[in-house]
Amino acid sequence: MNVNTLDTLAREIEAMKPARPVGRIVRAGRGTILVGGLQTDAALGDLVSVGSIAGLLRGEIVDISESGALVLPDGAGDGVRIGDPVTLMGAPVIAPSDRWIGRVIDPYGTPIDGRGLARGPIGRSLRVPAPAATRRRPLGMRISTGLAVFDTLLPFVRGQRMGVFSGSGVGKSTLLGQLARGMEADVAVIALVGERGREVREFVDQTLGSEGLAKSVVIAATSDQPPLTRRRALWSAMSVAEHFRDQGKHVLFLADSVTRFAEAHREVALASGETSSLRGYPPSVAHQIMSLAERAGPGVIDCGGDITAIFTVLVAGSDMDEPIADILRGVLDGHIVLDRQIAERGRFPAVDVLRSVSRSLPNACSDAENALIRLARQRLGAYDRSEMMIQAGLYTNGSDPDVDAAIRTWPALDAFVGEAYTDGPAVAFERLASCLGVACE
Ligand SMILES: Nc1ncnc2c1ncn2[C@@H]1O[C@H](COP(=O)(O)OP(=O)(O)OP(=O)(O)O)[C@@H](O)[C@H]1O
Ligand SMILES: [Mg+2]
Repeated sequence: MNVNTLDTLAREIEAMKPARPVGRIVRAGRGTILVGGLQTDAALGDLVSVGSIAGLLRGEIVDISESGALVLPDGAGDGVRIGDPVTLMGAPVIAPSDRWIGRVIDPYGTPIDGRGLARGPIGRSLRVPAPAATRRRPLGMRISTGLAVFDTLLPFVRGQRMGVFSGSGVGKSTLLGQLARGMEADVAVIALVGERGREVREFVDQTLGSEGLAKSVVIAATSDQPPLTRRRALWSAMSVAEHFRDQGKHVLFLADSVTRFAEAHREVALASGETSSLRGYPPSVAHQIMSLAERAGPGVIDCGGDITAIFTVLVAGSDMDEPIADILRGVLDGHIVLDRQIAERGRFPAVDVLRSVSRSLPNACSDAENALIRLARQRLGAYDRSEMMIQAGLYTNGSDPDVDAAIRTWPALDAFVGEAYTDGPAVAFERLASCLGVACE
């Protein structure tokens, strides 16, 4: 046993509480358990352990009144009886360690890749406030992403928070995997919420691959898991990202998907008595999403690293005004729209450049680069406006010089948007200039 392991054990023993408050079940059913005897000790959000063997069934306190503490169990709850003991475990924490890099864990920090895993020395709260706005650094330097479109037309900078919006099966998860592999960062923390079990395996083995996994921590909660576990996945992942950020590292935080997180929160909130409003979502969903997104971003002045974050959102029928997309868009520094028609013709990533925005522009690029981006957007816009006429053969060459130029450059520009690029933004801009048929200054 090495010194580090002994150190960790010593700290764990130190943190152990000699006694914990215990209550008794007074009512069970309808997805919740009412516990008597804990109402003075318990706080909202605290974890409990139901049954005489600690860890038998976990739960979270979602409501407290004079009659007792209402617990949402993290499981079916079959077999619990009136009078069973319920132990108060306190606020939920996760204890990340640098050795978690390259591993796949569940939202409680338990490994799910079949190998043992040590907890880190310090338990971090799952829900902490974002760094104070007045002490935060501004957005940082441009970073290379491994994909031509995000090195040029929709640039990323350190600490930027972006959303990826699309309908189902248009390439959100594949794009996240590509960015985890190719984006410049010290470590990537990837939260997979509500995926089918098979998809988690596919994502880790194929989309992320051994190269991507070697610099990532994957935190996964599959669709068959209880809503508390699924909701916890994003909070746990953010706490792990903050662990690395506080060491001064540049962390890439990838969340797939915020929609599944919001759905899990809806289940929890409705079970605890909140009423639904925003198309079935409870009013608290907006605060939950905004406070999570706000924890990512640039670190504080003089210390710490940054969390560059990408959140995916499933927009049914490409409805960008659906509540989750709408809430998230308001707190992000840009959004990437993936388009089904583009995916159907086989151009991946299926980014619709005209409907996507990076708010790090224009500061992220030089004047000459901004001029190239403007020209590319003009050309793509001119082609988009006339596409139906062009496809129908109704456009006559020479009628509009802008459309003529757009038709000439569109095939190269469209292919460029789908290119993988490992040489960094400067070379990618040269390539963009040659696609547009202009000299790169
Ligand atoms: N870069 C790519 N190259 C080739 N095919 C791709 C690419 N990205 C996505 N696809 C195709 O699109 C399919 C769906 O991709 P993906 O699972 O990433 O979509 P998604 O938006 O995450 O779906 P869901 O909404 O179900 O989570 C893939 O199985 C693959 O066939
Ligand atoms: Mg997906």
